Amino acid sequence: MAKIISIHSFRGGTGKSNITANLATMTARAGYRVGIVDTDIQSPGIHVPFGLDDTKIKYTLNDYLWGRCNLEAATYDVSSVFTTRQKTGWFNNNKGKIYLIPSSIKTNEISKIIREGYDARLLNDGFRHLTQQLKLDYLFIDTHPGINEETLLSVIISDVLIVILRPDKQDYQGTAVTIDVARKLEVPKMLLVVNKVLTSINTEALRSQVQKNYNTPVAGILPVCEEMFQLASSDIFCLRYPEHPWTKTVSVIAQQLTDNKPATKTFSFR
Ligand SMILES: Nc1ncnc2c1ncn2[C@@H]1O[C@H](COP(=O)(O)OP(=O)(O)OP(=O)(O)O)[C@@H](O)[C@H]1O
Ligand SMILES: [Mg+2]
Repeated sequence: MAKIISIHSFRGGTGKSNITANLATMTARAGYRVGIVDTDIQSPGIHVPFGLDDTKIKYTLNDYLWGRCNLEAATYDVSSVFTTRQKTGWFNNNKGKIYLIPSSIKTNEISKIIREGYDARLLNDGFRHLTQQLKLDYLFIDTHPGINEETLLSVIISDVLIVILRPDKQDYQGTAVTIDVARKLEVPKMLLVVNKVLTSINTEALRSQVQKNYNTPVAGILPVCEEMFQLASSDIFCLRYPEHPWTKTVSVIAQQLTDNKPATKTFSFR
């Protein structure tokens, strides 16, 4: 049974897509079969660090939601991100796999889905079927910021909800809203990740402050870094900078996700 992990933040630009891509990569590197779904239908992007070329994408999540294909047809094996790293010793020498379901980047398709909406229950059906077909151990869901229909659905079906925040007052306030919603929806496990933290900050003081404020464990505190700006989502950070402190903390967060395998909750909520 796949464990569902949703990555969310109340505000945009906190690092959700990059953190999702890197957590999924680290999990696959540990030998697991991993899926990633881009449910940020309004502003998709997680296909970018995986180098999935738009021209090679025939079907997307949108096509599935419009009944034009099944979800497998919109699924792309991006495990090749490992093969280019063979010399670094970071290659995937075991059964780990990464499958990505992108959302459409075409303007007319984004506006159509925003205008007309879709049946959100199809997401649950599709995820359940796909995890069985591909024998996934983990399914990562990259979400749109704020509270909307996809967010609520992904929160409901999650075994783990990771809420990302920056050390910023606007993020602090919005995170409280997200946590409140997640508690009401009874997510089995919730973890906070603080990203874009200045390296000069006392991380232990920040950790205990955030944990206390939200009464939720902090899985990791990630530094703001120039290398991430330079990379500009053109690659998977952990593979490019395996010794970087950001990578080491992501690795610690990934271990917290895999520690409790198997899943605590079955993947069906109907
Ligand atoms: N720790 C970091 N240090 C520096 N830059 C970072 C860091 N984390 C993420 N970024 C940068 O912040 C920007 C936003 O990251 P990303 O797209 O992953 O965020 P997001 O939360 O998915 O955004 P959105 O809400 O728009 O989907 C990117 O340019 C990324 O490179
Ligand atoms: Mg994003």
